[in-house]
Amino acid sequence: MAKERGHWASRFGFILAAAGSAVGLGNIWKFPYITGENGGGWFVLIYLGCIALIGLPIMMAEVLIGRSSQLSPVGAFRKFTHGGSPWMGVGWLGVLAAFVILSYYSIVAGWAMHYTWLSISTGFTEMESDAISATFGSVYANPWINIGWHGAFMAITIAIVAKGVRGGIELASRILMPVLFILLLILLIYSTTRDGFGEAFKFIFMPDSTKLSGASVLEALGHSFFTLSLGMGAMITYGSYLHKKEDLVSASITIAFLDTAVALLACLVLFPIIFTVGMDPAAGPGLVFVSIPIAFSQMTGGALLAPLFFLLLTFAALTSAISLLEVAVSYFVDEIKIPRLVATIMTGFVIFIFGIPSALSGGTALFGSGFADMTQSIFGEGDGKNWFDLFDYLASNWMLPLGGLGIAVFVAWRMGDAAREEGFKTSSQLGKLYWWWVFLLRYIVPIGVLAVFLHAIGII
Ligand code: PHE
Repeated sequence: MAKERGHWASRFGFILAAAGSAVGLGNIWKFPYITGENGGGWFVLIYLGCIALIGLPIMMAEVLIGRSSQLSPVGAFRKFTHGGSPWMGVGWLGVLAAFVILSYYSIVAGWAMHYTWLSISTGFTEMESDAISATFGSVYANPWINIGWHGAFMAITIAIVAKGVRGGIELASRILMPVLFILLLILLIYSTTRDGFGEAFKFIFMPDSTKLSGASVLEALGHSFFTLSLGMGAMITYGSYLHKKEDLVSASITIAFLDTAVALLACLVLFPIIFTVGMDPAAGPGLVFVSIPIAFSQMTGGALLAPLFFLLLTFAALTSAISLLEVAVSYFVDEIKIPRLVATIMTGFVIFIFGIPSALSGGTALFGSGFADMTQSIFGEGDGKNWFDLFDYLASNWMLPLGGLGIAVFVAWRMGDAAREEGFKTSSQLGKLYWWWVFLLRYIVPIGVLAVFLHAIGII
């Protein structure tokens, strides 16, 4: 008997859930700090190019695969090929990526939770900027804080996914996403009044940086996959809960637009503060956790807005984490036929264990600096990565682009012309873009991704 699969209540519900998956720590935590590390300007421009020319076509391809197969990634690839087809490897790679990404994503979400708590309990209003910066260092280095919040965050994610995503996620996204947006706009008004605004604006939008390297291009490309939740089947899975007649073209454009808007907004909020207080824009993963509390400590009403901001950051992380866990869970439910509750608890628990080394990366010699010495000898001079950094690097810079490449090649070259064309044009008023889409998927995506890979491993 065919199993009844859940569906979104409406196309709008899908857009919100998919935007909830896309908008997350990648936009507010990661994008600003990697923009800072890569010198702004050029990096932002290349990132925008990657979103438009590579990310967006792949998002449409993923939603198409999901919507037409009504199956999770591994099953979808089987359905379009045959059992044992190597294409199913693209689906498995996605399941693996879900484990890897969620294991460290949850640590960062834990910081957001801890900062929500800190801004309520101790408050940042009385603190000097230096003390606020020092706080992040001690949080990162504290194993118990990290493991504790990591466990709490995973438990909440498990609880929601166990119930099935539809009710909880659609509802939560519907309320929380607009609130997050409004709060960012309030912060933007504050940031425009800072002395550093002009400098920040130039830093973000003027491509005159000398810091750009091949590694930066790889990072911009990898991040465009990460931020749009692409290359690992999250959008295939979410697309599989979409009714077959829904328009995927305008939905994908809306999702990518919202995601990019939040990322740029986050930069426009953070960098003016960073330049005003004289922080280093290349300060790394602590950037948002230092600059935002500093801004709030100097702002009237900051004591109220600070917990609200970190709470919303936690929710943004949660709607993304759910989609990550959902990819792994839907595999075990659809393919191995494990009951949803068991599959969710089991997968979530393994991810929790897998995340412990990341939770310990800020302090111990084992996974932190000691591990970094080891990776330095593998990756070469100046590239020492602790466990946390290494997982982030492998997942976003390699696994996601590789998975995305597989998806693009599959849809462009392997899927039948008729199914592809009909899928793209269903209910869409943008059907005339079809040939552009196919052109990007056939040539620009593979050439672009391969060129960046070959450059990264030193061949070109
Ligand atoms: N897009 C999410 C973010 O920006 C992260 C994510 C990646 C979620 C891959 C799902 C799949 O935070």
